[in-house]
Amino acid sequence: MGAKTLILGSSGQIGTELVLRLREIRGSENVIASDIRKGSYEVMESGPFEFLDVTHKDEILEVIQKYEVKEVYLMVAILSVIAEKNPKKAWELNMNTLFNVLELARDGHIERVFWPSSIAVFGPDTPRVNTPQDTIIKPTTVYGISKQAGENWCSYYERKYGVDVRSLRYPGLISYKATPGGGTTDYAVEIFHEAVKRGSYVSFLKAGTKLPMMYMDDAIRATVELMEAERPATFHSYNVGALSFSPEELAGAIKKQMPDFKIAYNPDSRQEIADTWPESIDDSRARKDWGWEPRVDLDTLVRSMLLGLHFSS
Ligand code: SER
Repeated sequence: MGAKTLILGSSGQIGTELVLRLREIRGSENVIASDIRKGSYEVMESGPFEFLDVTHKDEILEVIQKYEVKEVYLMVAILSVIAEKNPKKAWELNMNTLFNVLELARDGHIERVFWPSSIAVFGPDTPRVNTPQDTIIKPTTVYGISKQAGENWCSYYERKYGVDVRSLRYPGLISYKATPGGGTTDYAVEIFHEAVKRGSYVSFLKAGTKLPMMYMDDAIRATVELMEAERPATFHSYNVGALSFSPEELAGAIKKQMPDFKIAYNPDSRQEIADTWPESIDDSRARKDWGWEPRVDLDTLVRSMLLGLHFSS
């Protein structure tokens, strides 16, 4: 029997595509999807699925034992905008789920863990352009605080108990198979849905707000490459860069494919969050340690999104 992989949060934006990719690589029966809600048709039909509440460690352990799981990807989180509305709930969910998985690894039930961090870990005092791997990390959002604490806990469990845990600081992720929920970078996904539906979009971020972004294919490849790489000497939640653009620049790239596309701006409280995050990322450490290299440029991303949504609508 091949070593099994469990994806927690497999119905979410990243989880959906991670499951499908890992099933391609490792064989459908070796990748167990799980969530508290049903996933996409593709995920539900292509291999095993378990309903699971990740806040209950014993439920995770049952699934680990049932399938002899060796590797867990914890893709469950409350994102930045929702977290601001309910700080305690976000803190509890984001941290308790991480503790559950780290403890299962410490106690020898699993051999390797993936846990995502984010550009949200940075704050207004961090250098904004080409943000280094090691820099001032003073987040001002609830979500960012949970990511900073999570990075430190991963590092602690590695040092203290030898847990093999790996992590990336994802930029805003753009994809069409599943929608993100409650993030500050969501405009860069919504814009495509509205472009296809209405030919126009009202952005909740200002025209010039540049943020680090990445197409989902690159994000999934980064995740799988990091998990398959030789174990890094010490824990890092790696900066991974790909693209950096503003709503105005993204709209310009969409106009190349849809000349009549129109954008307007009506910034709301999400602007305040975006203003504390980097514009672009220095990912030289990831490049050096495990060979990271992004592949998808802005024009390719725009074409893939419009095409993907056109055929799925
Ligand atoms: N995309 C996330 C958000 O906007 C950041 O990790 O909350």
